[in-house]
Amino acid sequence: MKQCQKPPSNLFSSPWFLLALVSLVTVSLLVCTQGSSFSPLFSQWLWTTTNYTSASLSLTQPFVTSSPSSSNTSSTSLVLNNEVHALLYNSSTTNGSSSQHIFAKESSVSSTLQDLPMEREVKRCSKLEMIEVGLTSARASIRKATRNLNVTERHEDPDYVPQGAIYRNAYVFHRSYLEMEKLFKIYVYEEGDPPMFHNGPCRSIYSTEGRFIHQMEMEKHFRTKDPDKAHVYFLPFSVVMMVAYLYDAKHHDVKHIGQTVVDYVNVIAGKYPYWNRSLGADHFMLSCHDWGPSTSSHVPHLFHNSIRVLCNANTSEGFNPSKDASFPEIHLRTGEITGLIGGPSPSSRSILAFFAGRLHGHIRLLLLEQWKNKDEDVQVYDSLPDGVSYNEMLKKSKYCLCPSGYEVASPRVVEAIYAECVPVLISDHYVPPFSDILNWKSFSVQIPVKDIANIKGILMGISQTQYLRMHRRVKQVQKHFVVNGPPKRFDVFHMTLHSIWLRRLNIRMRN
Ligand SMILES: *[C@@H]1O[C@H](CO)[C@@H](O)[C@H](O)[C@H]1NC(C)=O
Ligand SMILES: *[C@@H]1O[C@H](CO)[C@@H](O)[C@H](O)[C@H]1NC(C)=O
Ligand SMILES: *[C@@H]1O[C@H](CO)[C@@H](O)[C@H](O)[C@H]1NC(C)=O
Ligand SMILES: *[C@@H]1O[C@H](CO)[C@@H](O)[C@H](O)[C@H]1NC(C)=O
Ligand SMILES: *[C@@H]1O[C@H](CO)[C@@H](O)[C@H](O)[C@H]1NC(C)=O
Ligand SMILES: *[C@@H]1O[C@H](CO)[C@@H](O)[C@H](O)[C@H]1NC(C)=O
Ligand SMILES: *[C@@H]1O[C@H](CO)[C@@H](O)[C@H](O)[C@H]1NC(C)=O
Repeated sequence: MKQCQKPPSNLFSSPWFLLALVSLVTVSLLVCTQGSSFSPLFSQWLWTTTNYTSASLSLTQPFVTSSPSSSNTSSTSLVLNNEVHALLYNSSTTNGSSSQHIFAKESSVSSTLQDLPMEREVKRCSKLEMIEVGLTSARASIRKATRNLNVTERHEDPDYVPQGAIYRNAYVFHRSYLEMEKLFKIYVYEEGDPPMFHNGPCRSIYSTEGRFIHQMEMEKHFRTKDPDKAHVYFLPFSVVMMVAYLYDAKHHDVKHIGQTVVDYVNVIAGKYPYWNRSLGADHFMLSCHDWGPSTSSHVPHLFHNSIRVLCNANTSEGFNPSKDASFPEIHLRTGEITGLIGGPSPSSRSILAFFAGRLHGHIRLLLLEQWKNKDEDVQVYDSLPDGVSYNEMLKKSKYCLCPSGYEVASPRVVEAIYAECVPVLISDHYVPPFSDILNWKSFSVQIPVKDIANIKGILMGISQTQYLRMHRRVKQVQKHFVVNGPPKRFDVFHMTLHSIWLRRLNIRMRN
């Protein structure tokens, strides 16, 4: 069993360093390398503010990307299918009638094995067809869930039945989750050696990256050893580890990181048929590091086609919510979450709003300038006075401020959720984790950066009744952010898998 490990503090004393160097050189020798530039490829996709209403609306439009099917290196045509996605984003109600039209066009697609052409020339193709048949029936089952107007009829589940306002559509989510458990298979490429592949940090601010990679390594249920049976393919590299081993800090040089990713994808594309078949669209990478997005930009198809699961989900840096997935940053200082979860009732929370953190990016600068030492109700610190506990402060506060740092994600969001403090997201261009399932407006407050001066007014304007509702929902949503080892149903690992599952449902591949 693989151990979780911290990123090395001293690179050159590490025995891994030589190994890393050797494997890098080997990989570079094996493949013919392509030139790449570091400048991130910005997509056309822009939001001006974090407007969740318009975000969900925009997802009903088919997303525009460099179409993989137009390229002749791909033998498979890819149908972008935003149906399920659009549906889950539509938080309107469980009143499914409005959603029916979304699925109308799928009725023309064969949905049973019998409907398929009997003669199959290429074995691999027939396997792809079977994969797609399975997905089609999963879509149909989710579609049926949207038509079920009888809200008292719930899916049976021994562990948990999602319900309530924290979900965009609890019933559809549950159906989709159950379909995922029945069907979803992931192939993890075995190429690449630790420390940069099949490995990652399980503590630190980037713990969710390492934990996911390790959990995938040990995964039994969702993992398949037969790549022909997989719905998605995981590229198991850790950007955090690459930064630790390959970043030349003295020259601010990331070229070895970029080259490693380029080489890796070339090896995968040369050795297996799957990458070329979809030009990466059924492949995913995952990173919590600030540089996750820029690292993916070294391979244009990875950036534009693949599912990128990122903490740094910044829509003005090309994050595309209909193909990429946002997952949470969770700062695990000790590697344990014991003692972090839970907090006192609302009546014993005396502070209106709290933040403590050092200067880290322009948003925090604005926050500190505006609020540090200014107001008893909005307590903002760059460092806490001696003897004051950070976790106690979270538990004494009604609202916890979670401004973006140098990147959009903040570990404070999950810290607040754990401490049952209503999170206040202060960010622009940020897509919060699991936004396609969770209705963030129901349990958090979003404040655009331009409104930092009005924080107090905005929070005071929320009625006590509404606050109590949000507090209750924060407790309910905790379950989806909990880190378990081994993972448990509906926890952060499975929510991340579910996000990937939804994105795979969004595409359909034909030979
Ligand atoms: C968000 O978008 C919706 C739909 O486009 C619009 O009606 C609403 O005014 C927007 N809200 C803000 C705060 O911009
Ligand atoms: C959501 O549903 C409402 C009706 O309940 C409909 O008017 C609206 O167009 C739908 N929006 C999306 C994004 O599908
Ligand atoms: C590849 O596609 C491009 C444009 O789609 C076309 O111009 C070119 O002739 C194609 N090449 C081959 C070998 O089919
Ligand atoms: C559900 O849909 C029906 C038919 O479109 C409509 O008459 C009804 O008002 C809707 N109910 C809710 C709660 O939106
Ligand atoms: C709704 O579902 C419940 C549980 O299956 C059932 O008892 C009830 O009769 C249903 N109601 C309607 C109107 O179909
Ligand atoms: C995939 O495409 C690349 C670039 O066109 C090519 O070098 C590689 O051999 C292809 N892989 C397979 C398995 O055919
Ligand atoms: C999001 O991306 C934009 C464009 O690169 C950048 O200006 C902004 O600082 C980023 N936001 C954060 C909080 O990193």
